[in-house]
Amino acid sequence: MDKVVVSVGGSVLIPGDNDSIYIEKLAKMLREIASDVQIAIVVGGGKMSRYYSEVGRELGGTMYQLDELGIGITRVNAKLLTVALGDIANSDIPLKAEECASMSAPGRIVVMGGTEPGHTTDAVASMIAKNLNADRIVNASNVDAVYSDDPRKNPDAKRFSRMTIQELKDVVYDDHDAGKSCVFDPLGVNIAMEEKIDLYMVNGRDIDELRNAILGNEIKGTFVNSHQ
Ligand code: UTP
Repeated sequence: MDKVVVSVGGSVLIPGDNDSIYIEKLAKMLREIASDVQIAIVVGGGKMSRYYSEVGRELGGTMYQLDELGIGITRVNAKLLTVALGDIANSDIPLKAEECASMSAPGRIVVMGGTEPGHTTDAVASMIAKNLNADRIVNASNVDAVYSDDPRKNPDAKRFSRMTIQELKDVVYDDHDAGKSCVFDPLGVNIAMEEKIDLYMVNGRDIDELRNAILGNEIKGTFVNSHQ
């Protein structure tokens, strides 16, 4: 059975737009395919973590403390998804990628949030994938694919339907230099590259697209080949 790690951005899970309806549909789809693929999920913080980070900064918090606030929110979001998943999911949220990988089993869905300061949940997804020896990582974000640049600002931005992991690395390191929010955490890209784990970059609000990515089928988004 294939093993898959899914990174669900907070902006996908809980953007404040019919959230319970979306989360219910997501949980239903995940339960349906849990007998076909072994699934581990890491959930991001979304706008709530940005809000806590902003308020923490105004209060003079250190970067480390702001990251800790963000991690707390990712874990609350992870708990929310387990509520929707029911018995098939864990009730305690693992605090480390290794713990998540060891809790993972066929027919079960393990959900977690962040681990420690200094990276995002995308990097956690790659860490779980490494520990689980996963077949692929699915990044469920609110964009439909990887672009060479922000398509809203640059009409010449190239949309990738397939790319190599080196090409993804070039895109995220460009993004990083400009201080923009990244399509995938650079640390996560490095781990996926070292471990030769393919990535599927999809719009997570499109449940059919997300299902196809988790099952390793054709997707409308970007397939990132790590085997070259
Ligand atoms: P996210 O993974 O949601 O980060 O974690 P993000 O940058 O908002 O993610 P994208 O843009 O949706 O991909 C929220 C915050 O929590 C802290 C970081 O501060 C991060 O920005 N965090 C999260 C950690 O410090 N460590 C973790 O393992 C996870």
